[in-house]
Amino acid sequence: MSWQNPEFHRQLEAVDDHSINPTDKQELGDIALSRRTLLKGLGAASLATLLPSLLSACSASKSPQPSLLGFQSVAAQTSSTFDSVIVPPGYRATPFFSWGDAVLRNAPDWQSDASNSWEDQLMQAGDNHDGMHYFPFADQPNERGLLVVNHEYVNPTLHPDGMQFTSEPDNRRGRPSEQVYKEIAAHGLSIIEIRRNASGQWQRVADSPLNRRITASTPMAVSGPLAAHPAMRTESDPSGLEILGTINNCSMGATPWQTYLACEENFHNYFVNRDEADYNARPTHKRYGIGLGGSSRYYAWEAVEPRFDATPDASRPYQGHVNEPNRFGWVVEVDPFNPTHRPRKRTAMGRLGRECATCVIDDNGHMAVYSGDDARGEYVYKFVPEQAYKPGDSDHNRDLLDAGTLYAARFDADGRGRWLPLRWGRPGLTPENGFADQHAVLLNARGAADAVGATPMDRPEWVASHPTTREMYVSLTNNTERGKADPTDAANPREQNVHGQILRWREDDADPRATEFEWDLFVLAGERQKADNSIPSHRLGNINGDLFSSPDGLAFDPDGRLWILTDADEQAPYTADIGCNQMLCADPVSREIRRFLVGPRGAEITGITWTPDARAMWVNVQHPGISYPASDGKTRPRSTTVLITREDGGVIGS
Ligand code: FEO
Ligand code: CA
Ligand code: CA
Repeated sequence: MSWQNPEFHRQLEAVDDHSINPTDKQELGDIALSRRTLLKGLGAASLATLLPSLLSACSASKSPQPSLLGFQSVAAQTSSTFDSVIVPPGYRATPFFSWGDAVLRNAPDWQSDASNSWEDQLMQAGDNHDGMHYFPFADQPNERGLLVVNHEYVNPTLHPDGMQFTSEPDNRRGRPSEQVYKEIAAHGLSIIEIRRNASGQWQRVADSPLNRRITASTPMAVSGPLAAHPAMRTESDPSGLEILGTINNCSMGATPWQTYLACEENFHNYFVNRDEADYNARPTHKRYGIGLGGSSRYYAWEAVEPRFDATPDASRPYQGHVNEPNRFGWVVEVDPFNPTHRPRKRTAMGRLGRECATCVIDDNGHMAVYSGDDARGEYVYKFVPEQAYKPGDSDHNRDLLDAGTLYAARFDADGRGRWLPLRWGRPGLTPENGFADQHAVLLNARGAADAVGATPMDRPEWVASHPTTREMYVSLTNNTERGKADPTDAANPREQNVHGQILRWREDDADPRATEFEWDLFVLAGERQKADNSIPSHRLGNINGDLFSSPDGLAFDPDGRLWILTDADEQAPYTADIGCNQMLCADPVSREIRRFLVGPRGAEITGITWTPDARAMWVNVQHPGISYPASDGKTRPRSTTVLITREDGGVIGS
């Protein structure tokens, strides 16, 4: 039975990954120059020599230390009908929290024909589970916590007969309001209390007063430099202080003061500006890929909710909703332990297609928050708060993310790197370049990173920090256009990069505030050469262990195992041997990588969190294309949080 999800997801991916970075559009002469510069820096004779040397550099480093990996790897699943989750012998994978499950007290049951109303959906788990985090209760950290789960976007399976669009005479797409309201309600976050009961089983606490849904219409505050700024004011919110909702929450972060950072990734898909001249003159629309023309790209919510139509209307206050897209692309801080807390959009951190917000803290409370901007040729960022974290001082910590410095990363060919401050007045960040002040820099952080010469990357997704060394890792998921407008470089070395890589860096003095670092490539994902030499060289990887493609989710457990979650195109010829998306575990010293979990066909594996003792782990199966978790061949698929435990109660992965 086809549920349309894989095709829907492929279409979203095709445009979400689309390069809208004008720095990609270099003249041929520029490309030749940058190649020469690269080769000179590497002391290499030709690009053809680059890849083999990277490959051997990686495979040469073997460690005598015992492996961190204590499980038996599972086989790839290449069947087009694979409909479950497999984990190694001695482990259990249990569906724990699916789209439509009750979040609020008195939420109605999920109906397998998707007939739940939008009012029901407001009380139930949203769709497309993505980043998540377990927040322990201080007195019972390994027995009781709050699980916060992002609901990134919605699938056609949300509705009984898929998404409905009706063409109108002017080529705008109409939408039934019931569908739009349900889609808005299925976005955002779920916060649920969970407990380990007397017999050791984890359960959701149905009547917890802390259970909460945050949706694409929940009121939130604007915080930091852009609060009340004219660029944040709209016809619906003349104050520029209140935004309805958060959208496309992909990965996340968790602060040392126990709040959750939801990130707004592909927000551009929700907006349209039909005025081409205005669009082209407005970097906050064009540089971010807001929809242009007939209708917004996917959901056409503007048919029901006018604020998603960002076409300027001079006859209306604040030109209508032209500024509404400026109110998305932020980090949204939520206090999960306070059910009445109003989420805050932290504008000091800059506006990106933000994948994640990974917090790193040193022994003195100095912090950095790292983010990827996941589109072709976009950048890696960090935000360094002006002040240090003070343990236990909630008044001091509450608004730490409202002031600080935003940086974009440059990865040089000699293995060194530099954090380039996106600070108004520095070269390139001046009025002549369209940056009137620091507000303009924050609103168009992508443009600011272009201007200071940050390195365009192969779609930066999650960033992870080693728990003791603070070594940083980022997944660069893939970039099939690399080598065309965007030349290869040392950090993004493969043309037509279908498989992606994981890059790592060490801040100078392991200081999160450092402005320079040292980097190397941890692994190039990809295939192994076959006996008939049929795999083209650009697809070959250097994995020491099990095969995978397109790393996306990335996180360290408390013992320093690196967990890698994949989001590869399962229908592509180059994933024929890799099969369904999966989760692997890497030893950062030996670089050995073992496959730990394989998910159902059509799903992305994403979102990972643990109890502090790492004896319970939760992982998300997003947009399964096949009946899951029912796995009965007929029940509608549901995005699902899966609980992983060991039969002997031990530490996962050890
Ligand atoms: Fe929502 Fe970049 O993944
Ligand atoms: Ca992702
Ligand atoms: Ca992805």
